Amino acid sequence: MKHTTVHDCRIIDIRKFTDNRGYLSVIEGGMDIPFEIKRIYYLYMVPEAARGAHAHKQLQQLLIATSGSVDITLDDGREKKTFHLDRPWKGLLVVPGLWRDLDNFSGGTVLMCLASEHYEAEDYIRNYNDFLNYKKS
Ligand code: TYD
Repeated sequence: MKHTTVHDCRIIDIRKFTDNRGYLSVIEGGMDIPFEIKRIYYLYMVPEAARGAHAHKQLQQLLIATSGSVDITLDDGREKKTFHLDRPWKGLLVVPGLWRDLDNFSGGTVLMCLASEHYEAEDYIRNYNDFLNYKKS
């Protein structure tokens, strides 16, 4: 999980059902995404200041701006790639071992995260130099 790169991440088109009652989108763990969903959390009422600034050793995630928009910059220690999430049917699949910065939240953004694991503080790398050393080791 250490040797992942930003190219292992991608935007997936979440299935949607549309009719004159509006849109309905669905994600089934292990079917639409390559992991079972153990946890869901979401960020909202985020002020100007950026969030993120950490990496995970094992956690896989699907990030969705269910409302509003946000920029997610992923960094594998060599390359960075920024993804703009601005539609409820666009999900960013984030593999483990990548530093992420979240910024440019538009007003009213809700960023939902489907996660492959329960919350574990030990899975986080919160110092950028520690992250670079982890990727090199
Ligand atoms: P934090 O990891 O700092 O947020 P960010 O993703 O922007 O870096 O999380 C904020 C607080 O929420 C922190 O005290 C840990 C807690 N938290 C949980 O208890 N469970 C969770 O699933 C998450 C994501 C956070």
